[in-house]
Amino acid sequence: MHRLNYLLESNRNWAKSICANDPDFFKKLANQQKPEYLWIGCSDSRVPANQIIGLAPGEIFVHRNVANVVVETDFNVLAVIQYAVDVLKVKHIIVCGHYGCGGVQAALENFRHGMIDNWLAGIRSLSRIHREELSTLAQEAAVDRLCELNVLAQARHVAHTTILEDAWERGQEVAIHSWIYSLDNGLIKPLRPPFTEPINFSTGSMKDAVDEIAVSD
Ligand code: CO
Repeated sequence: MHRLNYLLESNRNWAKSICANDPDFFKKLANQQKPEYLWIGCSDSRVPANQIIGLAPGEIFVHRNVANVVVETDFNVLAVIQYAVDVLKVKHIIVCGHYGCGGVQAALENFRHGMIDNWLAGIRSLSRIHREELSTLAQEAAVDRLCELNVLAQARHVAHTTILEDAWERGQEVAIHSWIYSLDNGLIKPLRPPFTEPINFSTGSMKDAVDEIAVSD
């Protein structure tokens, strides 16, 4: 019981079922990984990257943290993005949040949760920027709207890293997607068209510029 034998047993069954379909599956994967996608999502156990978009091992590079936050000073996420873009040469970066996110909800609450409040500081700033809109909504709707705004802001943070700016500058094709997942029906909704080039006030549309101001933190 203490050794989690049931999970190890489950693992053996899983490996067996994969091999039954493709006897060389693990041999091929062990030699290389060539995923086309990087997933930046929430640690929430209900939002497992591979399963919800139906991808097999080897098909997506994954980074998850509480509330899918991308902070430009977080070496963890920067290392993942750099490896994904510069070495794996992924074509797509998917920032995927989810409605009802506990981290986002915590950022809206006016009491201490512990160290996590520091991690969520950027989302708290975002809620202050949007307090006018958020204050008109019922509590659950306000959390869900902030979940959307958070995805948009974090996707922009990815676009603003030197890693993406340099990749686009040298002509590498990589798109950043802003997606949100619904726990209620298992469906993903894209929130805006993907970023495929540096976000630039002088060349972007007025709508983009307004969005940029609205969601930056
Ligand atoms: Co979450």
